[in-house]
Amino acid sequence: MDLSYVWSFIYCLVAAILVKWTIKHVNIIVKLPPGPWGLPLVGYLPWIRKNAYESFIDISKKYGGLFSVNLGSETVVVLNDWKAVKATLLDQPNVFSGRKDVHLARYMVKKKDIVFTDGNAWKIQRKLTVQGFIKIGLLNKSMENRILDLTQNVIEKLSLYNNKEAPMDSIFFSSILLTNWKLISVIPIDKNKLQKYEDALNLIFFGLRPDNPLILFEWLRFIPPNRSGYKAFKNACDYVNNSLREIIDSHLNNWKDGNAHDLIDRYIAEIKKREINGQKAPAPFTTDNLLGTLLDTFAAGVDTTNVTCLWAFLYLAFNQDIQRKAQKELDEVVGRFRMPSLDDFTKLPYTEAIIMEVHRKASLVPLAVPHRAIEDAKVFGYTIPKGTTCYPNIYAVHHDPTLWDDPQMFKPERFLDENNKVVWPPYLMPFSVGPRACLGQPLAQMELKLIISSLLHKFHFNFPVGQNLPTFDVDYSITLRPFPYSLLIKLREI
Ligand code: HEM
Ligand SMILES: *[C@@H]1O[C@H](CO)[C@@H](O)[C@H](O)[C@H]1NC(C)=O
Ligand SMILES: *[C@@H]1O[C@H](CO)[C@@H](O)[C@H](O)[C@H]1NC(C)=O
Ligand SMILES: *[C@@H]1O[C@H](CO)[C@@H](O)[C@H](O)[C@H]1NC(C)=O
Ligand SMILES: *[C@@H]1O[C@H](CO)[C@@H](O)[C@H](O)[C@H]1NC(C)=O
Repeated sequence: MDLSYVWSFIYCLVAAILVKWTIKHVNIIVKLPPGPWGLPLVGYLPWIRKNAYESFIDISKKYGGLFSVNLGSETVVVLNDWKAVKATLLDQPNVFSGRKDVHLARYMVKKKDIVFTDGNAWKIQRKLTVQGFIKIGLLNKSMENRILDLTQNVIEKLSLYNNKEAPMDSIFFSSILLTNWKLISVIPIDKNKLQKYEDALNLIFFGLRPDNPLILFEWLRFIPPNRSGYKAFKNACDYVNNSLREIIDSHLNNWKDGNAHDLIDRYIAEIKKREINGQKAPAPFTTDNLLGTLLDTFAAGVDTTNVTCLWAFLYLAFNQDIQRKAQKELDEVVGRFRMPSLDDFTKLPYTEAIIMEVHRKASLVPLAVPHRAIEDAKVFGYTIPKGTTCYPNIYAVHHDPTLWDDPQMFKPERFLDENNKVVWPPYLMPFSVGPRACLGQPLAQMELKLIISSLLHKFHFNFPVGQNLPTFDVDYSITLRPFPYSLLIKLREI
């Protein structure tokens, strides 16, 4: 037999496959939103600066508010302005409600939580958690009272520093953790564990930042000697997992029907309801999913509020006139003989506007949590293929000069209308928008309002004399944090 026929056939076949592959990929690239070219293997990564959200703003100057960029292992789409965010997260909510599958997150929550899960289980678990929060009184006075304990706790800590320098970075975290803990569990937290929780959560947050090499190149976790921090990340997750499982177990051991005072009991009640004849209920009605919900409440709920408070007092120390104006408003509305409450906030527009401006300037979660298109999507005539990772650039929306005057300035007045009423524009989106928007928003807002107003009412904040001023430099984990700083604390007179 003449082998040359076989070879010709094989050549033709290979050529056909290559052509088909090339056409398919060129087709995808042509239909994708435009974006810069990169190098083979590493894509555009060599040009991405330390803070990816800033590099994305640079790219958008050439390619517009919706662009694609190759980050080495994949091509992602960035929603870099309000128009692009609206056309995706709000106008096609279902399509963009998927989550990128990140190995580190898979290790941490095993696809049994809310933040990093999608599909039907995510929908049910999210609803269950929101309802659980409401049923244990998250939105009423009983929660306000719990938060007032928190503010009292912070006030006591700061009072120790009257006329002295307070290290602000060590003030908020443990008090916020204790408050959020009371929501999930009536069994008190072991206070000896607070520092360990803080260390573990810090490790988790720095691990999950979108530009962690371990996220961009997941195979790095196999490379010794220190596996790029993978082991430390795993240990932190295991620590939180084990501590929370102990608490779930003690709830299970003491569980009585109709006796649900905290989120864990409420969740267990929903699980028991679905266990028929001793048959285990399907996900998300399992204790593993309950653990996932708790991990989220911890990881997503404590660091964020901690860091927002830190930004707030840094901005207020730099803007003494704004601080005094808020204190004047508080003195007029609340008086000097009691603490501010949530009801007062209908009459505290300036103080509320300050908190909104902190949300905008800090843009705490600059790239949200990466979304994933769950089917092919058409946006502005381009095609975003199923499976594409999409980053909403919240930081870019919050600093877009076409939406805000002087976006670099700290100006609470921008949120007040001519009648001195607070106006929340749709593109102020610190909690993101659409079905994936932050589930903890009501809780976070209650906490921030009470902490920030009470502290401003009670103390005055300034920089210690004769020291270098802190900067607005950011330390990028999944959230943007200020570097640790100290303030001079003065109790205000009654
Ligand atoms: C200032 C405080 C907070 C800010 C700025 C914030 C911001 C965000 C952002 C930007 C997202 C991502 C949304 C997206 O992917 O598009 C998110 C998700 C989430 N947050 Fe928050 N958050 C805060 C506080 C909290 C608190 C207190 C809790 C918990 C009780 C919480 C629980 C969650 C959860 C569970 C998700 C995932 C929602 C989902 O994927 O369906 N957050 N948050
Ligand atoms: C927590 O630890 C248990 C026991 O090691 C393990 O079976 C489970 O998958 C872990 N869950 C998470 C969410 O890490
Ligand atoms: C808050 O709501 C919970 C659950 O609905 C209820 O048990 C509690 O009595 C309420 N507390 C107040 C002070 O309204
Ligand atoms: C281990 O990896 C982490 C994360 O990449 C890195 O920051 C740290 O410096 C490394 N430590 C050592 C001892 O190499
Ligand atoms: C709270 O914020 C401070 C300042 O950014 C930081 O040093 C500390 O690690 C934070 N803790 C957590 C768990 O977020």
